[in-house]
Amino acid sequence: MKFNLIFGGLIAAVAGLAFFVVTFERPRPDSVQGGFRGTSMGRVDNPRTQAALTVRNQAPPAIEAAEDDPTSPRASEIYENVRVLGHLSVEQFGRIMQAMTEWVYPGEGPNQGCNGCHVEGNFAAEGKYQKTVARRMLQMVQTINTTYSSHVNAGPEPVGVTCYTCHRGNAVPAAVWASSPPNARLHRLLSTAPEQNRPVAANALSSLPTDPFSSYLLRDNPIGVQSATSRQADNNASILQTEWTYSLMMHMSSSLGVNCTFCHNSRNFSGWQDSTPQRVTAWHGIRMVRAINNDYIEPLRPEFPPHRLGPLGDTLKVNCTTCHQGVNEPLRGAQMLRDYPELNPPPRRASLETAPRN
Ligand code: HEC
Ligand code: HEC
Ligand code: HEC
Ligand code: HEC
Repeated sequence: MKFNLIFGGLIAAVAGLAFFVVTFERPRPDSVQGGFRGTSMGRVDNPRTQAALTVRNQAPPAIEAAEDDPTSPRASEIYENVRVLGHLSVEQFGRIMQAMTEWVYPGEGPNQGCNGCHVEGNFAAEGKYQKTVARRMLQMVQTINTTYSSHVNAGPEPVGVTCYTCHRGNAVPAAVWASSPPNARLHRLLSTAPEQNRPVAANALSSLPTDPFSSYLLRDNPIGVQSATSRQADNNASILQTEWTYSLMMHMSSSLGVNCTFCHNSRNFSGWQDSTPQRVTAWHGIRMVRAINNDYIEPLRPEFPPHRLGPLGDTLKVNCTTCHQGVNEPLRGAQMLRDYPELNPPPRRASLETAPRN
């Protein structure tokens, strides 16, 4: 009798402890309120994972600034073959070459360092595809930081984008996507269905369609699926379309490390009047990613060797994770662009700006 009591007590204690250990997270997650007062539009941050994310999202220290004496000769006057950076001083030109080397080809070896992009011994030669790609990427960065300022400088402090925001010391950024071949087994069963029920990182391990990117981050299919009123008769959005929208939303949430209420008030997902300003930033972000993929990366397809393309031969493209990498502000909001004025587009000629208008 007494033995049974002790034994039972022991089992209860072990079970209780196990329950406590697996149920409650330590240290206790923080919650940050984002929406209007009293709407519970919070973000839940676990201090442990936050610390790991901060380590992963460090901006490297800036290289010492270069001189820009406006009377000194421009790179276009000194070098043979410059088409994008000709407006820089020679010092600035050298500095951005050094920075690009650290951001994209920092290693040792035959295709690293300056030789990542340059034919050995001839900086003016156009022999390597990497140089052609890098030149286009410079123009892409200029477009992101000007045309899409509504996304990359939407916060109180201008943040902007450098090559490092995506590349982080790798020739190919860590998070990219490409079209994937249809799953043969699934297609025998249901030939018209999109691939789903296969957990992948793209849809945050859910059962939703596995490729929201081709539909929304390359093509511009409508994302909205909800009716404005409860009895709207002309809403033709299907369950399929809805699942696709939700798959994109799962990608957006997981790549930013937030939940749906970072952008939406869950009483009204479609209504902008109930949403946070971050949802507007995200709206511009979707358009920016489409432009990056359609205007810059896909047109470079003929330049890339086969091993730099996806399984179906298209380029490796950008999604929200390419820059965000698990945090709502890439590189924790480091103002990296401020340290690299070389990446800004050339100043517009004064004569154009002051021309009289009539
Ligand atoms: C990520 C690719 C990349 C890396 C790495 C790189 N460059 Fe360049 N480099 C370019 C591009 C692109 C141009 C052409 C710029 C333009 O058209 O405005 C260029 C042009 C040049 C030129 C001008 C040559 C001429 O006469 O036309 C020099 C000099 C140069 N780079 C030096 C360097 C040095 C030194 C390094 C290593 C510290 C380096 N580059 C690393 C991409 C790169
Ligand atoms: C928005 C994200 C993004 C930014 C910003 C970006 N890149 Fe890229 N870059 C990519 C992607 C994605 C690829 C891979 C494309 C592929 O392989 O199909 C790539 C590929 C490259 C390559 C070819 C790598 C190789 O070895 O095949 C070079 C070189 C390059 N980028 C240079 C630059 C430079 C220089 C900058 C800054 C001026 C820059 N990139 C900014 C996304 C970006
Ligand atoms: C980073 C901000 C952000 C997050 C996080 C986010 N959304 Fe969205 N959501 C948007 C934006 C922006 C749109 C409108 C996109 C467009 O029309 O281009 C949208 C649209 C939607 C729509 C379509 C609304 C309509 O008009 O029919 C639904 C449904 C939706 N989101 C659900 C979700 C769910 C569920 C989650 C969490 C899994 C989520 N969202 C997370 C920004 C976000
Ligand atoms: C080219 C890099 C890049 C890509 C790709 C990108 N973003 Fe951003 N995003 C930024 C930068 C830079 C900021 C500004 C961060 C700041 O203000 O601190 C930002 C800010 C945001 C913010 C505001 C965060 C806040 O806390 O205020 C949201 C929301 C956001 N992005 C959503 C998205 C979504 C959704 C996608 C994919 C459709 C996306 N981003 C793709 C670079 C990018």
